[in-house]
Amino acid sequence: MNIPMLDLKAQYESIKDEINQKVLETLSSQRFILGPEVEALEQELAEYSGTKFACGVSSGSDALILSLMTLGIGQGDSVVTTPFTFFATAGGIARVGAKPVFCDIQEETFNIDPVCLEEVLDSKFKEGDQNLKAVIPVHLYGQCVDMKGILDLAERYNLNVVEDAAQAVGAEYPSQEGVQRACAMGHLGILSFFPSKNLGGFGDGGMVLTNDEVLAQRLKLLRTHGSKNKYFYDTIGGNFRLDALQAAILRVKLKHLNGWHEARMQNAITYDRSFKESDLVENGYVKIPATVYKNSSVRNYHIYNQYVIRVQRRNELQEFLKSKGVPTAIYYPLSLHLQECFSDLGYTKGDFPVSEKASEEVLALPIFPELNKDQLEYVVSTIENFYRA
Ligand SMILES: Cc1ncc(COP(=O)(O)O)c(C=O)c1O
Repeated sequence: MNIPMLDLKAQYESIKDEINQKVLETLSSQRFILGPEVEALEQELAEYSGTKFACGVSSGSDALILSLMTLGIGQGDSVVTTPFTFFATAGGIARVGAKPVFCDIQEETFNIDPVCLEEVLDSKFKEGDQNLKAVIPVHLYGQCVDMKGILDLAERYNLNVVEDAAQAVGAEYPSQEGVQRACAMGHLGILSFFPSKNLGGFGDGGMVLTNDEVLAQRLKLLRTHGSKNKYFYDTIGGNFRLDALQAAILRVKLKHLNGWHEARMQNAITYDRSFKESDLVENGYVKIPATVYKNSSVRNYHIYNQYVIRVQRRNELQEFLKSKGVPTAIYYPLSLHLQECFSDLGYTKGDFPVSEKASEEVLALPIFPELNKDQLEYVVSTIENFYRA
């Protein structure tokens, strides 16, 4: 059996007529940059995520850069984040001239650990460090960070919070105020519409969401070069605009998003059950992903942009699966604090042991909505065959 890692063609086939019609309408309008489609998407995604404002931008990476610029973060500042994330999270910090400061993750969820964050912040505070300006929690793979711990610390240390929800559109968190969605809890939150995301465009795209009107206005100002009145510039921004065609396509896809989340959750339940029924979990060969909010009142306890297991002999298993027609991926093979481009930050191996161990053990399996039960079972039985051999 040959299984794809992601089947975007199958998804397109299922909504082809709606998409094609919307694309044709947009072509007829000949309105390609920002405009009514982008504004409508902003409104719909703000509503979907539970925020008041949204700003459509050119990518998730640009959404991070624009967020930091909007908060006035730059040269001489530092921003704390996880070393176990896609490069763009820390890359964005460096791109605005600030310094990434890393903090280890929780073993169970792969998300930034509030206990480690407290240690990092306490030690910076004791050193008299005045440069820390923000924290970027990343809702990795589609499950929310334990935001209570992060928000309490941010308040205590007067830090801005930018949620990186590139992998977690619509993921929910049981907060004291009730169920909240990713992007609604920090000062700003970012989304990515990279095609492999649960809400993926037909190209690059992203969004910044916020409940703060002043920040919302500044986001829009900086999105178009810092210009409120054409050819007059109050401040230096950039071109971070979202295309109308992307927005039009994403508006069609947004209507299907909850159904796709649900299908991914069902696939994860099938994987979980099959792994538990095999002896792989009991014998410690495979650890299935933790779902820490599953028994609370939240519906989207995990949106499974990725279904990531921890395994023994990971690289050998990956080769074996490939030879049997099962593609997998490794998110991420090297923690960011050990990347060559960040060597001047002075971190060394052993600084973030939980993150480093995760990078040796994680393996993402196909989880896209259109997978069928036979395919899911084939993946698990092929893993069983590997460890039995
Ligand atoms: C956690 C995280 N942050 C940021 C990004 C950047 O998003 P984009 O690819 O849209 O620039 C990604 C994309 O993969 C991501 O996974």
